[in-house]
Amino acid sequence: MNNACIILAAGIGKRMSSPVPKVLHSIYGIPMLQYVINTAQKLKPEKTIVIVGKHADLIKESIDSENVLFALQKKPMGTAHAFLCAKKALKNFEGVLIVLNGDTPLVSHNTIKKFLSLHRKNKNTISVLSFIATDPDNYGRIVRDDSGRVLSIIEDKDANHMQKKIHEVNSGVYAIDYSALHLLKQIKINRLKGEFYLTDIVGLSLKKGLKTSVYCIGTEEEFMGVNTKNELYQASKLMKSQIINKWINKGVSFIDTDSVFIHPYAYIGERTLIYPNVYIEGHTRIGRGSTIYPNVRIKSSNLGDKVVIQDSTVIEDSTVKSRASVGPFARVRPGSEIGSKAKIGNFVELKKAIIGKKTRASHLSYLGDTRIGKGVNIGAGTITCNYDGEKKHVTIIDDNVFVGSDTQLIAPVKVGKGAYIGASSTITKDVPAGALALSRVSQKNIENWAKRKALHRLVQGKVQSKKRKKKGVGTERQGAGSKGQRVSSK
Ligand code: UD1
Ligand code: MG
Repeated sequence: MNNACIILAAGIGKRMSSPVPKVLHSIYGIPMLQYVINTAQKLKPEKTIVIVGKHADLIKESIDSENVLFALQKKPMGTAHAFLCAKKALKNFEGVLIVLNGDTPLVSHNTIKKFLSLHRKNKNTISVLSFIATDPDNYGRIVRDDSGRVLSIIEDKDANHMQKKIHEVNSGVYAIDYSALHLLKQIKINRLKGEFYLTDIVGLSLKKGLKTSVYCIGTEEEFMGVNTKNELYQASKLMKSQIINKWINKGVSFIDTDSVFIHPYAYIGERTLIYPNVYIEGHTRIGRGSTIYPNVRIKSSNLGDKVVIQDSTVIEDSTVKSRASVGPFARVRPGSEIGSKAKIGNFVELKKAIIGKKTRASHLSYLGDTRIGKGVNIGAGTITCNYDGEKKHVTIIDDNVFVGSDTQLIAPVKVGKGAYIGASSTITKDVPAGALALSRVSQKNIENWAKRKALHRLVQGKVQSKKRKKKGVGTERQGAGSKGQRVSSK
């Protein structure tokens, strides 16, 4: 049978004390609502409908809404009322409606899948997912009779002294057969809050004799509802440990998980080792068996297998192919691609640089707007001079070229296959394949120059002291001070 997901996100979130709508508050730069949408999409529903309210436009702009329908709840009149607003978008849908709250970002699709299969297996009309909360305050309590049968859900505000002691709470996740939609209209307003509570559908359906179950299969961490800034902070801490645990379970090793940040969208292959203080951001992908040493930041980049990223290196929007080594202290700026088994060493900066297989730039270089072929040696202190003050120009270095240390390549310039560039050259013209290019001033050696210099100094010294003796200087002399004070000499 088909599924449709309905995500409730039209509440104003007063408890956040913020002009930003609650569901747009972010964890690691991603709005809470986006996490819930991503979870919903993993269930492959026929439709995903997000209920939005006052901030509809802002929410639509901030969310990746591919395959998402939006329905408007003009006034926040409660969760049951919000659900009803999906009716038009649900036109002709016949199947199970999965309700998710937009403020529960940690929920995993695997738990929901398990919950759905229980709902289906037991042929329920309505199912609710519950969990045991250490601190049940603010959650709806699951009220059961002595035999454990569910009676209703009572909201915190409406709960009596005894009900407040119940630790089994409503997660806000429901599976509702489309045939029970008419029940929503029968829900009465809650006088205390002036809202229509979706939770009341449970008591109502039981009264009508419809098959209704509550499955306590959630964990407290996963179903944490975020209603305050403090809960948002707690949720981000929980998400961090969820992410790290996920990768540990998939075979990634960490030296110190506390100091490491891994973005929710990042991927790390098994047998990769991550040292302390490493930040893996955005849609970064790291292959298998790689090593990331301390103090490294990798943003939205693609790293192959068995790559080594040495200490204090930054890599942004770039590709590093398998078995390449980068750093320590390297900076790989956007648009770069480092070929397999290539080496980018200490204090090397790349920008839009394509580096071929087995090419080595081991020390102190700037390689920008350049295409470098395979097996090239880039000597220490090589600079591609790519900017003429107005425009950027490209340097092309073909396969197996040897660039001597302290070379400047004034772009646009091309160095042909297998050419050599002598150290300390300034290359302004293309170098043909197989040629040796030299542009430094040729060396001149002056024999015995040092000896002659020393002799000259000795003679000069003697002449000076004779002059001083003649003038009687040495006992007293005019000082260099502008005011002409007498200064004694030694
Ligand atoms: C709700 C449940 C509670 C459950 C808890 C789990 C109700 C009445 N209570 O409480 O039983 O334990 O979630 O986290 O359902 N929303 C709308 N329109 C509205 C009101 C709310 O779209 O008119 C949306 C909110 O944006 C939010 C979700 O519904 O994403 C839940 O609303 P919220 O006010 O956070 O309910 P809770 O008090 O957390
Ligand atoms: Mg809530």
